[in-house]
Amino acid sequence: MDAFIFKGGTTGLRVTGEAGGLAAMYSLALLLCAAALTHSALGAKVCPKPPEVLFATIDVVKNEYNVGEEIEYTCRPGFVPNNGQRKYICQPNGRWPLNTLLCLPKRCPNPGPLQHGTVDSRDFHYRSSLSFSCDPGYTLVGSRTSQCMSDGKWSGIPPQCQPVTCAPPSLPEFGVLSYRLLKPGNVSYFMDTIAFECVPPLALIGNETATCQADGTWSSIPECRAVTCPAPTGIENGFLNFAVRRTYHYNESVSFSCQSRYVLEGPKHSRCEKTGNWSTKPSCKEPCKIPVKKAVVLYEGEKKRVQSDLKEGIMHGETISFYCKNKEKSCAYTVPVQCVDGNLTLPFCFKERGFFSSLVKTDPSDMKPCEDL
Ligand SMILES: *[C@@H]1O[C@H](CO)[C@@H](O)[C@H](O)[C@H]1NC(C)=O
Ligand SMILES: *[C@@H]1O[C@H](CO)[C@@H](O)[C@H](O)[C@H]1NC(C)=O
Ligand SMILES: *[C@@H]1O[C@H](CO)[C@@H](O)[C@H](O)[C@H]1NC(C)=O
Ligand SMILES: *[C@@H]1O[C@H](CO)[C@@H](O)[C@H](O)[C@H]1NC(C)=O
Ligand SMILES: *[C@@H]1O[C@H](CO)[C@@H](O)[C@H](O)[C@H]1NC(C)=O
Repeated sequence: MDAFIFKGGTTGLRVTGEAGGLAAMYSLALLLCAAALTHSALGAKVCPKPPEVLFATIDVVKNEYNVGEEIEYTCRPGFVPNNGQRKYICQPNGRWPLNTLLCLPKRCPNPGPLQHGTVDSRDFHYRSSLSFSCDPGYTLVGSRTSQCMSDGKWSGIPPQCQPVTCAPPSLPEFGVLSYRLLKPGNVSYFMDTIAFECVPPLALIGNETATCQADGTWSSIPECRAVTCPAPTGIENGFLNFAVRRTYHYNESVSFSCQSRYVLEGPKHSRCEKTGNWSTKPSCKEPCKIPVKKAVVLYEGEKKRVQSDLKEGIMHGETISFYCKNKEKSCAYTVPVQCVDGNLTLPFCFKERGFFSSLVKTDPSDMKPCEDL
């Protein structure tokens, strides 16, 4: 068929000379071109190179495919196909069907939290990586990073954050300073605490406890010192019990007492402290005289005569109740007052009775109590 068209072409054109030769060549080229077009137009169609799909390979790669030829895409390692089609057949019109395949990176599982540490990650897809770090006081054991591999798994094994350990404290004063762990076991980890002690009578100066720090050292180490306190001084209206005038060592104590009818307030003992001072001493509180000549009062639940029963007054902290009169209702009520370190304030309503009134009038203490009316 080609040959026929070629011949027919030549017969139809006849030119002479140089120009004629060129024209002939030109038309020959045209004809050849037309022949090629006719060839495909008449059923011998082919498909071009199929479209590339990102992260996928094609089983057979060629420049031309015959109609009916099938190709298959495969996602590269680390990628998985979406729901799109993987196989395509070269269609009679020389085209490939619409490509619907997508290759998506695999996803590794969520690595989960790292105890006492942090996992840094942008995402969990193929080729992304994790980086691990530990909180202060913890050291990373294992690999600092992990990659999401083509099999959808994280590379390596997850690391661990293990607490820093502190070596036993070096005791410069070994022998007088000792310590004990406050937790069972003989290894001290980050945040563990130990307690120090000095051999008596030495005083522990500094912090009695130390904590294992993030850098593996102890927070502090105290020292033991000999501390003495001067001979203790006495207290007002009181005295030291069995005290010898001498200096005292740390933690030695003395006790105090008060003179008769004085009340000791505060700690009975005073202790020689680390500072070389005595701890707070007690004080002796004064008794109260009752500032009336004659009266009947209520004391410890009983009626008492001030002039005879309470000549010595009452002691610090004790209470007496005075009788007051309600004139309108002709009754009496009691008002309690307390002795505070030698001070006793009479109630305003209390009237001390003169000699005459005590003869002619009923004493308020003998009147009907107001609350009974
Ligand atoms: C404590 O130390 C002893 C040796 O001094 C060792 O045999 C023992 O296993 C340790 N115990 C612990 C809990 O580490
Ligand atoms: C003593 O040490 C502990 C840690 O063991 C710390 O918590 C505490 O604040 C320290 N006390 C003083 C007074 O420094
Ligand atoms: C101080 O003495 C008391 C007994 O009086 C004792 O219980 C205490 O443990 C002592 N304290 C020190 C730090 O030695
Ligand atoms: C201990 O006594 C000294 C004087 O000897 C004084 O300067 C210091 O403030 C006292 N310390 C305490 C805690 O009372
Ligand atoms: C007792 O009274 C005196 C003088 O009125 C006063 O200076 C003192 O503070 C009082 N004491 C108490 C404990 O109220």
